[in-house]
Amino acid sequence: MKVLVVYDSLYGNTALVARVIGEAAAGEAAVLSVGEAKPAELCSFDLVVIGSPTQGGRATEAMRALLARIPALNGANVAVFDTRLVARWVKVFGYAAGKIADELKALGATLVTEPEGFFVEGKEGPLAEGELARATTWARSLLASPTG
Ligand SMILES: Cc1cc2nc3c(=O)[nH]c(=O)nc-3n(C[C@H](O)[C@H](O)[C@H](O)COP(=O)(O)O)c2cc1C
Repeated sequence: MKVLVVYDSLYGNTALVARVIGEAAAGEAAVLSVGEAKPAELCSFDLVVIGSPTQGGRATEAMRALLARIPALNGANVAVFDTRLVARWVKVFGYAAGKIADELKALGATLVTEPEGFFVEGKEGPLAEGELARATTWARSLLASPTG
C-alpha cells in the first residue's frame, strides 16, 4: 500500500508525529513536509495522511495553502491529525484536524477514520506523555482498516 504523510510543523512536534506514523507503515510511507508535497500527486497514493499544528483554531497557513491547491481527490482515502494544546480553554476555537477533514471531503476524498488530535504540553511542545505511542497505534489501525 502506497502511503503519503504530509505535515507542517513550526516547532517539530507535528513532524515527530508524522515520522512515527510513517514508521508504522513499515517503510512503505513517504513522509513529506508541506513544502515538499505536490498537490496534484496526492491522488496517486492509496492513503494520504495530513497533519498540521493547530494555530488559531485551524491549520497553519502553509497547510491551508496546500489544501487550496489540491485539484480534486475523488475517492482517495485520507486521514487527518493535528497537534494541539492540552489546555482546555483552546477548545472554544476548535482544532485543525476537523477543518482539514471537511476540506478534503469537499474535494471528494473518503475519510477512513475520525480526525485525531495529539496533545502538546505548551506552544513549543513537548508532546504529552504517551502521545507518540498513541500515534503509532492510530497509524496501525489506519493501515489495518479495509479502506486504509
Ligand atoms: C500562533 C499560534 C497559534 C496557536 N493556536 C492554537 C489553538 O488555537 N489551539 C491549540 O490547541 N493550540 C494552538 N497553538 C499551539 C500549537 O498547537 C502548537 O504550537 C503545536 O501543536 C506545536 O506543533 P509544532 O511543533 O509541529 O509546530 C498555537 C500555536 C501558535 C504558534
